[in-house]
Amino acid sequence: MSGSAGGVPVAVAWSGGADGQLELLDQTRLPGSVEWIACRDVASVIEAIRSLRVRGAPAIGIAGAYGVVVAAGEAIRMGLGPAEARKHVLAAAELLAEARPTAVNLRWAVERVCRVVGAESAGDSGATAADLARSSLAAAVAIHEEDRRLCTAIGRHGADILPDGDILTHCNTGALATGGDGTALAVITTAWADGRRFGVWADETRPLFQGARLTAWELVQRGIPVTVLVDSAAGHLLATGRIGACVVGADRITANGDTANKIGTYGLAVLAAAHGVPFYVAAPSSTFDLAITDGGQIPIEHRDPAEVKSPWGHVVAPQGAGAFNPAFDVTPARLIRGIITERGVISPVTEARVAMVLGGG
Ligand code: MRU
Repeated sequence: MSGSAGGVPVAVAWSGGADGQLELLDQTRLPGSVEWIACRDVASVIEAIRSLRVRGAPAIGIAGAYGVVVAAGEAIRMGLGPAEARKHVLAAAELLAEARPTAVNLRWAVERVCRVVGAESAGDSGATAADLARSSLAAAVAIHEEDRRLCTAIGRHGADILPDGDILTHCNTGALATGGDGTALAVITTAWADGRRFGVWADETRPLFQGARLTAWELVQRGIPVTVLVDSAAGHLLATGRIGACVVGADRITANGDTANKIGTYGLAVLAAAHGVPFYVAAPSSTFDLAITDGGQIPIEHRDPAEVKSPWGHVVAPQGAGAFNPAFDVTPARLIRGIITERGVISPVTEARVAMVLGGG
């Protein structure tokens, strides 16, 4: 498997037929080496999602969707009959949906595939494990292809409103994080493809360095100038006046527009407001959770303290110290100038505007 298609990295791929395997570009190895892993059992898909071999809200949704197909493949190899196969697939789907709690795309995608499996195997339809594998693969491929189109539309809408000046971004929101060109990063690459010229500044994004390792890698591959900064340099950079806009992605957006994204996003939004720099969020409709009203209700993942105290095995804090390691924070809607979706830009960010742009289902 190759790590890129036409210069754009591919994060998730399915190989073979319904009894095939999920292939993931192992993002924990980037930028040092480009390595693919193959998942033929649900446990390895869950491990890959939890350890961020595959990451980014849309990409984990797509991986979770293919994970349901992997579960159906297990049912085939275990020789399960129709009722047992259905039970096995639905139980595995629940484990997949729970693999990471904050990005709503994961549960959204897994449940979408499960609705197909559920309908296919309802009552005494007699749907076999092979039937479930075929129908779940079709549903997962549809989600994957749809995400590719959504990324393109987000890139277009965002590029059309992007102000002049350099762009500051956080975490990784590109092809590695999605099924297409990305969300916030697609805004940047689309504007660049339009002929606009600017510098891109990538927060390194502690503790796992998605900005330094992944965003910088993607932009270097595309020939777009990128400068990495430590997260704590963002205020100083904004004070120079050279940043025209901050553009970031999202893991879950509530009905009022509050947005969970990679830890550090909230601080960046506060700094952007203090310097009068517009702060944009770019995300597909699959990242909205309209069932919850505000960001206080978003489950925030807390990760292993070792990621803070000894990143990549390098000890940076003494053994007796504790570590606070939330993977995400919530940026209140009032700090967001606009949310760039595939259906257009939500601005101002209010509950009514969110409902108006996304209300069509
Ligand atoms: O922990 P990660 O790397 O999965 O976090 C990813 C982010 O926070 C991204 O900004 C978000 O998922 C949007 S990706 C298009």
